[in-house]
Amino acid sequence: MEGKRPQFQEGLDAFAARHELTDWEGWFSPYDAETYDQVLQNIGEDDVVMEIGAGDLRLALRLAERARRVYAVEVNPLLVGAALQAIGFDLPRNLLVVCANALDISFPNDITVAVLLMRHCQHFGRYEDKLRAAGCRRLLTNARWKSGMESIDLTRPGVPFAEVSEGWYACRCGAVGYVGRGERSDAPPVEVIGCPACQSRFTFDVS
Ligand SMILES: C[S@@+](CC[C@H](N)C(=O)[O-])C[C@H]1O[C@@H](n2cnc3c(N)ncnc32)[C@H](O)[C@@H]1O
Repeated sequence: MEGKRPQFQEGLDAFAARHELTDWEGWFSPYDAETYDQVLQNIGEDDVVMEIGAGDLRLALRLAERARRVYAVEVNPLLVGAALQAIGFDLPRNLLVVCANALDISFPNDITVAVLLMRHCQHFGRYEDKLRAAGCRRLLTNARWKSGMESIDLTRPGVPFAEVSEGWYACRCGAVGYVGRGERSDAPPVEVIGCPACQSRFTFDVS
C-alpha cells in the first residue's frame, strides 16, 4: 500500500482505544513468507477458514485459493477499504470480508480452522473461547509463543494446570511458561487450563 502506513494515520490511537486494542494490537504489520507458507500448508480444500485480523488481505487472498471459504475479519476500515479498492472485481466469491472487531461479532459455525497472526494479541483467550463455542477444530497462531507458528487442536480439553509438575505449558488464556526445575525442557508443551496468569485475571471460565 502506498502512502502513510495505517498505524500512523491520525486518529488510530483513539480508534484502537475505543476497540480495546492495546500494546500495538491495532497496528498492521505483515509477516514473512515462511510464516504464510506454514499457515497455507495447514489448509485443505474442504476447510472453512476464519482469519482474525486480516490486515490488507494479502494472506486471506492466498487462503481463498486453497480453502472452501474464508472469512477475513479486520477492524481497521482504512486497511480494508484500501485492500478492497485494490482487489476490485477480482475479489474471489469464497472470500467474505468483514470489517469489524472480532471481539464483537458472532463467529459462524462452519469454521474448521482459524488463523490468528498477531504477536501482540491481548485477547487470545477470548478468541479461543469464541472459536471453541463455534465448533472450530484448529487454530493456527503465533500469538502465544510470539515466534513461529503453532497449530492448536481445539477439540482437546486442556489439562488442569495443577496437574503439571514439570515442563512447558501453554494455556487457553494465551499465557505460556515452565513449571519445575528445567528437567523436561525438550518436551512439547502441555495444553492447560487455569494457569496462574488467568487465575490472577479472574476471567477464567471453568464450565
Ligand atoms: C500483525 S497484523 C497481521 C495482519 C495479517 N494477519 C497478516 O499476517 O498479514 C494484525 C492485524 O489484526 C488487526 N486486529 C487486531 N485486533 C483485531 C480485532 N479485535 N478484530 C479485527 N482485527 C483486529 C489489526 O488491525 C491488524 O491489521
